[in-house]
Formats: sequence, C-alpha cells, structure tokens
Amino acid sequence: MDQIVIEGGASLRGRVVISGAKNAALPLICATILAPGRNVLNNVPRLGDVRTVLKLLAIIGAEVDMEWPRVVVDTSELDNPVAPYELVKTMRAAILVLGPLVARYGKAKVSLPGGCAIGARPINLHLKALEAMGADIEIKRGYVEVTCDRLRGARIDFPVATVGGTENVMMAASLADGVTEINNAAREPEIEDLADLLNAMGAKVEGAGTSRIVITGVDSLRAVEHHVIPDRIEAGTFMVGAALNRGEVELAGVRPAHLIPVIDALRSAGASVDIQDDRLFVRGPAELKPFNLTTEPHPGFPTDMQAQFMVLALAARGTSMITESIFENRFMHVPELVRMGADIDITSRSATIVGPARLEGATVMATDLRASASLILAGLIAEGTTQVLRVYHLDRGYENIVEKLGGLGAGIQRVSSEFF
Ligand code: EPZ
Repeated sequence: MDQIVIEGGASLRGRVVISGAKNAALPLICATILAPGRNVLNNVPRLGDVRTVLKLLAIIGAEVDMEWPRVVVDTSELDNPVAPYELVKTMRAAILVLGPLVARYGKAKVSLPGGCAIGARPINLHLKALEAMGADIEIKRGYVEVTCDRLRGARIDFPVATVGGTENVMMAASLADGVTEINNAAREPEIEDLADLLNAMGAKVEGAGTSRIVITGVDSLRAVEHHVIPDRIEAGTFMVGAALNRGEVELAGVRPAHLIPVIDALRSAGASVDIQDDRLFVRGPAELKPFNLTTEPHPGFPTDMQAQFMVLALAARGTSMITESIFENRFMHVPELVRMGADIDITSRSATIVGPARLEGATVMATDLRASASLILAGLIAEGTTQVLRVYHLDRGYENIVEKLGGLGAGIQRVSSEFF
C-alpha cells in the first residue's frame, strides 16, 4: 500500500486548478440511468469513487468510455438492475442508483451500504420516500429490493436535510406519475447541478437549492451533455493549505458562490480571500486567530471541511471550538493529530483545540477521506517528516493531490511500500 511523505514548514505558493466535484459527479452518473442514449459528462474528476460508480453502471449494463475528464455513459441497453455488495461496500453512494433504476425499470436490488468510518449513515429516509411514492420495499439477505410498476408523485417531508435522500427522490420523481414535493430538501450546490442535468434531460425540477423542491414527472428523458461543477471541498482544502505557513495561492476554476461559508470562516481566522470571477486568491496571515464553528447542512459550514479546519485551529494562537452536528463519529483524525502533539479535547460532538500547536512529524493513519486530507495539512505545519498511511482513502476524493501540492511548493511525495 502507498504512503504519502510530507516535510513540514513549506508555504504554499502559486496557482492550482480545481477539479470537478466528486459529490456532483456521483449522482450525475447515476442519473444517466434515467435517460437512454449516449450521455456525455465533462470535467469529471479522475477519482476512486468515480471509477467505482462507473464500474457499477457497467455492471448494470451501460457502455462506459473514460476519456478523462470526459466520460461517456451510454445507457441505451441496461439489463441488470442490481448493485452488488462487493461494490456497494466500497462506496455507499452506490445507493444513488436505487431511485433511477426503480423509475426506469420498476425494480432494483441494491446491497445495503452498511455503516462507514464516520457514522451509521442509514438510508431509512431514502426508503421511506420511495415507499411514499408507491414502491414496495423488501430487505432480504443484506439487500434492499424495491419494486413498483410506476412511481407516483408524493409529498416528502424529510426530518433531516439528507443530500443523498434528496438526490434519490429527485431522480425517482422525474419519471413518476404526478407531482412530488420535497420539504426540508438538501440545498447543496451538487443538488442544483443534478437538477440542471435532469432539466436538460427534459425533467421538470423546480426549487433546487432551496429547501422546497417540486418535481413534475414526465414519461421519458433524453440523453444529454453536461459539465460537472467544480469541487468546493477540494477547493476548501487547498484554501486551508494556503492559509497555513503564510502561504499565497490562486485557485482557478472554482465557483466562489459555493464557498461562502468556507470563505467566511477563513476570513474570521485572519486569512485574506479575494474573489475574481472563477478564481480565489488566499493569503495566510502572520498570525491566525482562533475561531468557533459548527458544521451544518448547506448553506452552513460543510461537515466535509471540518477535519481540515481543525488543522487551521491548531495553527492559530488561542483556543478554538469545532462542533460536528451532521455525523456522530467524524473526529477520527483527532487521535492521529494528538499523536503529532496536538492539544485537542473532545466532549460529545465538540472539539476544543488549543493553538498554536508545536506538531512533530510522525507516522499517522488515514481513517476516512477528509481525515486523510487533514493529516496532509498537519504535515505541512509539523516539525520534520510526516508519513500518512492508507492513502487509498485520499485517492477516493482528491485528484492528483500530491502533484498539485508539490506544484505549490510543498515537500511531498508518494512512496509505494509493501510493508504498510
Ligand atoms: C453526502 O453524503 C456526501 N456524499 C458526504 O460527503 C457529505 O458529508 C454529506 O452528504 C453531508 O453533506 C456524497 O454526496 C456522495 P446525508 P450523504 O444523507 O448523502 C442522516 C465526502 O467526504 N441520514 O446528507 O450520505 C445521516 O446519518 C462525503 O465527500 C439518515 O438518518 O449524507 C447524517 O447524519 C462524506 N437517514 C445526515 O442525515 C437517511 O436515510 C446527513 O446525511 C439519510 C441520511
């Protein structure tokens, strides 16, 4: 297994181009199931999770052509509405084929995703919504089997704003008979990007980006070409890197409007962020200030940036508090940071971070995607050499991160080793 080795102390300087959004590409690829024909997606990030969902589409029967960053998914002849355990266990977002398969085929058999490192992450709200739309749901031998001749429009009131649940219902409702209303819908930019794709296919989706989305079902959808939005979490991760060690970085190919909560939080920590069209200029201050933040559904501060901001708090002079309100177990990076010398105390869902921390390079273990990004950032501010193991977590969500950070002056390399 590979590891990533980082020499501490470098300031990031220069320009980095941000890739397409993983969390947009995944539902967009699943949505091609709804539209028979040659679907073309541009600006697709070359990531582990994206390869996995494309493999799943091929298992279902699609013709997939990867000419990165362009991907062609021909869904004319799908013949196997099944998402197998071997694949779903590696990527829970595979549950996003459920809605489209039932909508197009009237049936689907998808392995239950099981939990993951950051929490139980149930899919009860996805299933309850499909049931409300007339589907029969059966849980058998670790699979969920969903059947319905034709889904019908329904009113769906989500008790929590679920991104995947909202996406599954949007896709299922696009071909349902009648009108579906989603209340307390997730408002992430990736939801809007999915709505743009569905409407280009001929669907009638209104209100994406607000907490009330109304979908009027149609009889069929047509294949389209679509450009994936930039990845706001990759951008946020590099913005934190720029704010450390008094860096100065230009991020190109971003949508600043998708990054408001991250920009605000960085500015409150003393970093300067200038916005120019699809570019952001981030400069780290001589001294970072402590801050308090709570993760919330968009447009609140994103949970996917929580681990990265914990490193920013370690570099600030003073005591910061970070509260994780979305997932019950998303502090797994903390024990690894503590091993590097961090002073972080956790009570229930809040972490108290005392800075500035004098971190020492160490061998640390990545546990989940965003935790691994925070360990890389910690390596930038640590004294000496940090080795991050199990970097396959990182490859799921960051395209060419070693090359991109190296291009900004970080002392970083990837080492293959059969011992780890
Ligand atoms: C999406 O996951 C993202 N993944 C996650 O990014 C992100 O952290 C999360 O949204 C929150 O923003 C993709 O888009 C592929 P949720 P998702 O349903 O859809 C509870 C990353 O690092 N819930 O919005 O699975 C759930 O337990 C990943 O890129 C139910 O209780 O998240 C959680 O507490 C990590 N029942 C809350 O809702 C359900 O049926 C929000 O989860 C569904 C969700």
